[in-house]
Amino acid sequence: MKTLNIGVIGIGVIATTKHIPNLLKREDVKITMLCDLDTAKAEKAKEELGLSDAVVCADYKEVCTNPDIDVVHVCTANPSHYEITMLALNNGKHVYCEKPMALTYKEAREMVDTAKAKGLKLTSGTQWRYNPAPMRMKEMVRNGEFGDIYYVKSSQLRPRRLPAYGVYTSKAGNGGGVLLDGGPHSIDLPMWLTDNYDVASVYGVTFDKMKNFPEGNDLGPWDPENFDVEDTAFAMITMKNGMVIYMETAWATNLQQSAIGVVAEIGGNKAGADMVGPGFENHVRTTKIVDGKLTTSTEKIEEPMNMNEYDILHWIEAIQTNGDPLILPEQQATVVRVIEAIYESAATGKVVNFD
Ligand SMILES: NC(=O)c1ccc[n+]([C@@H]2O[C@H](COP(=O)([O-])OP(=O)(O)OC[C@H]3O[C@@H](n4cnc5c(N)ncnc54)[C@H](O)[C@@H]3O)[C@@H](O)[C@H]2O)c1
Repeated sequence: MKTLNIGVIGIGVIATTKHIPNLLKREDVKITMLCDLDTAKAEKAKEELGLSDAVVCADYKEVCTNPDIDVVHVCTANPSHYEITMLALNNGKHVYCEKPMALTYKEAREMVDTAKAKGLKLTSGTQWRYNPAPMRMKEMVRNGEFGDIYYVKSSQLRPRRLPAYGVYTSKAGNGGGVLLDGGPHSIDLPMWLTDNYDVASVYGVTFDKMKNFPEGNDLGPWDPENFDVEDTAFAMITMKNGMVIYMETAWATNLQQSAIGVVAEIGGNKAGADMVGPGFENHVRTTKIVDGKLTTSTEKIEEPMNMNEYDILHWIEAIQTNGDPLILPEQQATVVRVIEAIYESAATGKVVNFD
């Protein structure tokens, strides 16, 4: 197999915890460029992650136009995803663009169409679907165990886990709030579970009720003065086949649910299942009629799986085998379209219908 030369742009939390460590698990990749506006961060990662051969730079254009680079990982703040990805694609690179893939559906579509036209791979970062419990639930869907699925819920009501670092609370800096952070996972998961990205309409509501209560956050206090985005979002998404998705995502609530991740629930006419804690990500609770009695059982999925590793290793495999990435860019464009619709609905108070 060819050794793929990889350039990583945006050497922050996600690049140094998910992308680089998992890329290093494959012998057929070499991380040859590290780019960050703050080159000291890139130098630090170079040192700490043992990337002694990597070239550090501040300008993403150097990575995207370097003829020796095969793959670009875009791990910058959201507003630059489109621009960097387009430059990389137009220079013949495969691109892993972190979620949300773009800020608008128009941009996301252009990214998908460009990748397709050039025969390049494009993916995005909704790896939460690869936790053990969602994987088990997906298997149950495939086996027809739920019967006719008419309801899916995805919930990510964090007690206090607002990313108080970087630009997350700034609309100018990150394009929006929790809807662009937890939102892509929370919207993708129910659609992926049911293999249904065919949206009919969206009704959404957003809040910023918690912005003046920065105490007790497990990622440190945030600055209410530099906070002009939503911290909570709710949406009702109806699908063209009549199924309904209820989505709730929040950085901070006075509720004790899953501390970080997305919790899913599937309702069908033969059975229903949800993820229960503690250990939401690998416990599936199923409720159905057995021998005439309503019966509930909880299964712990013992098989260990790290969602980040699974995602990154399969991404490289898709490039090497000329296969489809697991996280399809078309799916992520739909996720971006739903996010846009939630913002529009929250602003107008009206349902947004898709054609
Ligand atoms: N898939 C996931 O579960 C997941 C989790 C966290 C973050 N993310 C996504 O990853 C992205 C980064 O998040 P983070 O938490 O790592 O943020 P971060 O603030 O820790 O890192 C972002 C880095 O990008 C750099 N940067 C910004 N604009 C740049 C540019 N134009 N050129 C070069 N460098 C630039 C910043 O200096 C910073 O070091 C976001 O889009 C976020 O939504 C995804």
